[in-house]
Amino acid sequence: MQEQIKNINTLEELQELYTSVFGKNGTMTAKLKEMSKMAPDARAKLNKENAALRDAFKIRQSELETAALNQKLKTEYVDVTLDTEPKNRGTIHPLTETLLQVGTILESLGFEMWTGPEIEDDWHNFTALNTPSYHPARDMQDSFFLDNGNVLRTQTSAIQIRAMETHGVPIKMFGVGRTYRKEMDATHSPMFGQIEGLYVDKIDTHITMSDLVATIRVLLERFFERKLEMRIRPSYFPFTEPSIEVDIKWGDKWLEIMGAGMVHPNVLRNCGVNPDEFQGFAFGFGWDRLAMLKFGLNDIRQFYDGDVRWLKNSGFDA
Ligand code: DAH
Repeated sequence: MQEQIKNINTLEELQELYTSVFGKNGTMTAKLKEMSKMAPDARAKLNKENAALRDAFKIRQSELETAALNQKLKTEYVDVTLDTEPKNRGTIHPLTETLLQVGTILESLGFEMWTGPEIEDDWHNFTALNTPSYHPARDMQDSFFLDNGNVLRTQTSAIQIRAMETHGVPIKMFGVGRTYRKEMDATHSPMFGQIEGLYVDKIDTHITMSDLVATIRVLLERFFERKLEMRIRPSYFPFTEPSIEVDIKWGDKWLEIMGAGMVHPNVLRNCGVNPDEFQGFAFGFGWDRLAMLKFGLNDIRQFYDGDVRWLKNSGFDA
């Protein structure tokens, strides 16, 4: 029996044998039942045999359990020293990052953020901005018109109209949002983002062109985190008078960065504001441009391709 036990190779078989020996109808169980009738010698012998068999089963059981455990450890081990699987962390899109940074700067200067609809009516996108239908400036922007006469907002300037209409003056706000024009090359996308600033207050608070230029300088220098050479050129926009364009020196080139000016009296009038009592400035720019410069990118279309590989390698994976 001892040999038989030693030769068993599975716990199931061992259990079977054990039951056949020590179970209710087991051979040893039967013998033990007869023990009281036995002579003392035979009794002692049976006791010994009983104990030895139990030991043999115990030993084999523990051997088989150890073997099973070792087998399990071989195939199911966990190496706790291994690195965990790399987790894909989300990143902030460069444009979002740019918007957050510009927004933070403007808010620190007292401007409040506004948004507006991307499908605009003619009034907010053009007419109220002193650009009536016969106005040649409408051709400056190749617009996407809808059948009902509405337009995919070509400029966030529309938001300053909505802000003045609903909030009234004095007002210090910036509008942010997507804008749309029929153009497409490395530096132009049919959809892009603009940020628009507006500050209008009583005439006797003396908001002037110098305040405008200083605001733009603070905004750009804080955004690019360095001193900048800035150039102001006279320009034309229907909604400002006088109008300027702002360039910054980038390497050895001057780059046009934004349009601005003193809000045209007609624009104020269109929003129910008396230009004899109030005046102010406005400025507007594409945030894609700022993002491209700050992060050293040369193709605006990459911003909108949604290519995760590009995002990972664009240096924003912070
Ligand atoms: N809306 C102009 C554009 O899209 C940018 C602009 C110029 C905005 C002058 C302004 C401004 O507020 O004063 O080209």
